[in-house]
Parts: sequence; structure tokens; C-alpha cells
Amino acid sequence: MRTLLFAVALAVLAGSICSAQVAAGANAGYQTAEGRARVAQSLANPEREKEQKPRELIASIGVKKGDVVADIGTGVGFMIPYFLEAIGPQGKIYAEDIQQDFLDQLQTHKSEQGWQNVETILGGQVDPKLPANTMDVAFILDAYHHFEQPTETIRAIKGALKADGRLVVVDFYRFRSREGRDPDWAKNHIRADRDEFRAEIEAAGLEFERTFDHLPYQYAMVFRKANR
Ligand SMILES: C[S@@+](CC[C@H](N)C(=O)[O-])C[C@H]1O[C@@H](n2cnc3c(N)ncnc32)[C@H](O)[C@@H]1O
Repeated sequence: MRTLLFAVALAVLAGSICSAQVAAGANAGYQTAEGRARVAQSLANPEREKEQKPRELIASIGVKKGDVVADIGTGVGFMIPYFLEAIGPQGKIYAEDIQQDFLDQLQTHKSEQGWQNVETILGGQVDPKLPANTMDVAFILDAYHHFEQPTETIRAIKGALKADGRLVVVDFYRFRSREGRDPDWAKNHIRADRDEFRAEIEAAGLEFERTFDHLPYQYAMVFRKANR
């Protein structure tokens, strides 16, 4: 009996270690304040507007005036000005991240810009701590591949969606390279490709609606809150 209990405890421990390591490679640069400062600088790079076409992306998703949007893994809030344009003063953005130093930068920017309808949220690795049944759109840009416990996190995000709310996940194709970039970057940094991420998100209880490409090296997937 004691041997059995020991084996079960070992299996549980191994399982939790494995699930905590799922995105270890992608998250290596986030472990120190210096590393996060470097990431923050790259996230705030003004060239990203040309590279990532945020307005085209938002138009393809169909975000509208008055929508409530959660930007999960917001970083320093690259997408916030573009969402604000789309939702107008009646809408609201919950800008969530697990790194307080990124949110501090966003908070400073928010005060400078006088953004009234942006609320920053320090989430946990699994629980983004968003209000329940509130979001028209939950949006994850270049962040899903950083989630250490993706299934549990997606389940928590599902709870924050309105009944007709949508989850949009935007990420990099693993085997397509970007002009002028290390051709192996995505292969080494992103743990799985689009269809595997799709299967994970469906398994977590969301219903796949459609996928589209707004860039040659990046895809977006749209999911609905399923009734199960
Ligand atoms: C590559 S950055 C992208 C940031 C932002 N979406 C952008 O495009 O500028 C990935 C972000 O995901 C955040 N992140 C990692 N794991 C997370 C989790 N479990 N929940 C929420 N955010 C997470 C990181 O702190 C980081 O800000």
C-alpha cells in the first residue's frame, strides 16, 4: 500500500513538473528584470505597426463600438490604442498580464494618454482574474505559446466570455520564416503549430469557428464559447 501511495505521489509530482515546463523555452527571457526590460523594448517597437498590421487584424475579427475586450498577455499594451479606436468610448478593455513590470509601463502610458476605459489586471499563470461572463472578445496575441498550463488557462478565459463571446488566438506558424529574421526562430520558440493549438483549445471546451491569415507568417483562430 505504501509503495502504491509513493508511486501515485511520484506520478502527480512528475505531472505537475511536466505541465509547468510546457513553455520553458519560450519563457526563458522573462525570468529576470533585465530580460523583461529587453522584451518590453521589443514589444514597444514602433515598427510593429508595419509588421503586425493591428488595424487589419482587428477589422478581420470584427470588433465593434461598445465591445468589451480582454487583451490577455497584453505585455506593455501594444494593441490597446488600436482596440480603443475600434470600441470607442462606450467600450472597455481589460489589459491583463502576469508581469507587473509590463503592466507598470502600460499604466504610465495610460495616465499620459488619459485612457479612461482601460483597466490593467495582474493575472496568475492559470487564472487571468477577469470578471465572469463579461467579454465580447478575449484576445491573445503572441502569448498563447507562453502559457505554461494552456488547458486550464483557456478554461478560465472561457468563464470570462459572454454567452456569445469569442476567443481570438493569434500566433506564429512554426515553419514559416519572417523576412530579415532568424529562419529558425519560430521553430525553436513556438512549441507547436496551429492545428495542435486548435485541438488544445477545443479540448478545453471552446468551439472552433474559423481561421484566417492577416500576415504570411502568422494566423488567427476564432473560437466561440460552446455550451458544454
Ligand atoms: C511575446 S509577449 C506578447 C505581448 C503582447 N500580446 C504583444 O503582442 O505586444 C507574451 C506575453 O504573454 C505574457 N504571458 C505569459 N504567460 C502568460 C499567462 N499565463 N497569462 C497571461 N499572460 C501571459 C507575458 O508576460 C508577455 O507579456
